[in-house]
Amino acid sequence: MNFQNKLLLGIGAFVGIMLLVGWVAINEPARMEVFTTQWQGRSIERGAALFLNNCSTCHGTDGLGLAGVAPALKNPMLFLNDNPAKVAKAKVTDLTGQLTALQTAQTEYDDAVKALPDLQSKRDAIADKNSQEYKDADAAFQAADAKIRNYDPKTPEKATDLQKQVDDANKELADLQTAGWDPSRDTRLKEMGWGGSLHDYIKSTLISGRPASKFYWPQPMPTWAQSAGGPLRNDEIDNLVDYVLNYQTDAVKLTPTQINQELKIPVVGEVSTENPIFADLGKTVDVKTLDLAGGDAAAGQTAYTNRGCAGCHLNEGGAAYSVAPTQGTYTRIVDVRLKDAPNAGLTPEQYIAESILYPNQYVVPGGTAGLMPQTFGDQLGLTELKNIIAFLESQK
Ligand code: HEC
Ligand code: HEC
Repeated sequence: MNFQNKLLLGIGAFVGIMLLVGWVAINEPARMEVFTTQWQGRSIERGAALFLNNCSTCHGTDGLGLAGVAPALKNPMLFLNDNPAKVAKAKVTDLTGQLTALQTAQTEYDDAVKALPDLQSKRDAIADKNSQEYKDADAAFQAADAKIRNYDPKTPEKATDLQKQVDDANKELADLQTAGWDPSRDTRLKEMGWGGSLHDYIKSTLISGRPASKFYWPQPMPTWAQSAGGPLRNDEIDNLVDYVLNYQTDAVKLTPTQINQELKIPVVGEVSTENPIFADLGKTVDVKTLDLAGGDAAAGQTAYTNRGCAGCHLNEGGAAYSVAPTQGTYTRIVDVRLKDAPNAGLTPEQYIAESILYPNQYVVPGGTAGLMPQTFGDQLGLTELKNIIAFLESQK
């Protein structure tokens, strides 16, 4: 081959390879998507089988819950962002407020129209135009006159229109209530003060269970992950999370009357009879003034699970949720956290107390602010806090 032909062949081969690479590059995302969907599909299938074997005895084979046993997981309150009845009620309140304001304006106008001639003649009858009496009478006349001048003549029309809107909104609310929506309740994640994703909420509930639910259900939600002493492997937990999340499409179309058992708000008072720290000492207690010594580490471990701490602060794979795995907490605090300038002068106990009562005061490097619930000060008593501290100090 002469040089020119070799060159042509070379160019041809190069262009061919580039076309091939381009083709693969264009198709790769689609191929990966099909792959991911298939993978997801298989995970949901495996989750469905696990659910039937492990969960359906309490949550029902259809996930709609069993009355008096366990709540529905195929449940709009778990998947919706807002409770429609709560939204409808807020609308009624808002519109009613606007209507009342219009009605007040109308009454004031009617009164002013009636009173004006009298107010005028009373004022004009006063001879001394410089007297205080005259000034007062004039002020009263001017005030009534201003009410009349500022009156919007469209008020009756607007009031009629608003009245109709109020009636419609009330009807919408009544219809929702008939369908079982309770305007005083909130969606689950809001009621539980959960700042993270639904995926993480379900996963952490599955991992550590809800031991404290024995106080408000006949049988508590068990612990499932092997890492927390339960029977299931991590991949099985993931399959179950995928399966429960897959309820979404159906769940958001349901009304509460179509499920068998609604979620309950945890009765924290029965778990601990102590007054919460914030109730006793106020919301801005200085951790340096607290006596944090002498906690019981074993009781602290129970509290750590009951309060849902363990679900986020996993030992393994904890990085997916936070950068603060339970194991090694004490060593990390002494070796790293307390050497960070904002924590200067804190003892390990005070640092832990601050992390629990005011998680956003110091967000650990790489951590997500606002993810850890901000409400523990409203829930934990001082003894429970001390116990948790003692438990975390045993995690070297
Ligand atoms: C012994 C009965 C029982 C079994 C078995 C059970 N659960 Fe539960 N589960 C409960 C109860 C009771 C609650 C409510 C806990 C609460 O209100 O705090 C619950 C709550 C949950 C929640 C959280 C819902 C919420 O917002 O409170 C999820 C998710 C869940 N279970 C999934 C499962 C899965 C998946 C399985 C099977 C691996 C399972 N459960 C097995 C009783 C059970
Ligand atoms: C929704 C997830 C979540 C829950 C539930 C949760 N935490 Fe946290 N926690 C975090 C995250 C994320 C961080 C790291 C970001 C930060 O500093 O706020 C953190 C940080 C901490 C730290 C500081 C750790 C360090 O390495 O400096 C402590 C201590 C702690 N949490 C204790 C608790 C205790 C005790 C509970 C239960 C009473 C709890 N957490 C519940 C998410 C959670």
